[in-house]
Amino acid sequence: MSDIYEDEEISSFEEQSTDGWQYSLRPRRLNEYIGQDKVKSNLSKFIQAALSRNESLDHVLLYGPPGLGKTTLAAIIANEMGANFRQTSAPAIERQGDLASLLTNLQEHDVLFIDEIHRLSHHVEEILYSAMEDHAIDIIIGKGPSARSLRLDLAPFTLVGATTKTGALSAPLRDRFGIQSRLEYYTPEALLLIIERTAEILSVRIEREGALEIARRSRGTPRVANRILKRVRDIAQVAGESVISKVGTIEALAALEVDARGLENKDRYMLEVMIRKFSGGPVGLKTLAAALSEMAETIEDVYEPYLIQLGFIARTARGRIVTRGGYEHMGIPFPQNDDRQGELL
Ligand SMILES: Nc1ncnc2c1ncn2[C@@H]1O[C@H](COP(=O)(O)OP(=O)(O)OP(=O)(O)O)[C@@H](O)[C@H]1O
Ligand SMILES: [Mg+2]
Repeated sequence: MSDIYEDEEISSFEEQSTDGWQYSLRPRRLNEYIGQDKVKSNLSKFIQAALSRNESLDHVLLYGPPGLGKTTLAAIIANEMGANFRQTSAPAIERQGDLASLLTNLQEHDVLFIDEIHRLSHHVEEILYSAMEDHAIDIIIGKGPSARSLRLDLAPFTLVGATTKTGALSAPLRDRFGIQSRLEYYTPEALLLIIERTAEILSVRIEREGALEIARRSRGTPRVANRILKRVRDIAQVAGESVISKVGTIEALAALEVDARGLENKDRYMLEVMIRKFSGGPVGLKTLAAALSEMAETIEDVYEPYLIQLGFIARTARGRIVTRGGYEHMGIPFPQNDDRQGELL
């Protein structure tokens, strides 16, 4: 008896401490998915229509900054369609054959999710065109004069592609997505609901004011909100607080070095480097990346969008600049006679 009990304990502990646990935070149905009302309302209509015609849903492109729930939404689409969810990421599809085997294994109405779809190589992308349009692929068998082309029919399926930058997607690929949805940063109100939902799943008790404080500092991003909540919970737990208070939350956020607008050390460092080393800009992306020892892509996809959203930095024809708001946030006086603002794109 005690053996069985112990096994149960171990497995439930594991579920709480590994990725499965992260997975359980994911809403499964559209009506559990908080915020993004416009995207949800459109999708639910398209799904309903496809279901009533007994067709697979048209291909869906989801784009927007990281951590906003693209993967979650893709899985929800499969659930709502009552279809299987197959998940992969563009860098994992190296050869045409990799994609061909994924595609030929799909069943009717299945959802194939390709994350970071802007990173598909050109020759892999080409296979996708006919798969998306004609539900068939042509593969070349053999080499040289004896090579021949073989057409394979596919089950009607839905491709859901996710990307942080639609600009990097080739036009022929982008045009083949019948549904294109842009995910926006979440409002603090929506994030509050997400945090309260997560707290309930994790059996964490947090005062509304505390949850709201996290919501305000989560960069409009559910993944960040969930991460901060978990760390605040850890700090409260060690401090012996059974209910996380507003004060406790603010102290924990200070310990985590998340400031009032949700900036973390790296964001502040980037602003500081731009101000101190480049006189507030304009500074080119590559130069900035080198100065920060970061990849240009990380700056572009992760740091910059939120700083731009806050109006702390802006893009000009000659590079990035720190705005007056950015200087003020850093507590550094804004230079007099600044003419850079005139260059704003
Ligand atoms: N609308 C939502 N309602 C509730 N929870 C959400 C919502 N969107 C995202 N989440 C939560 O946020 C976390 C991150 O979501 P997800 O992994 O889907 O982001 P993503 O946009 O795919 O990120 P990336 O672009 O980096 O792949 C998930 O654990 C999920 O629980
Ligand atoms: Mg994802």
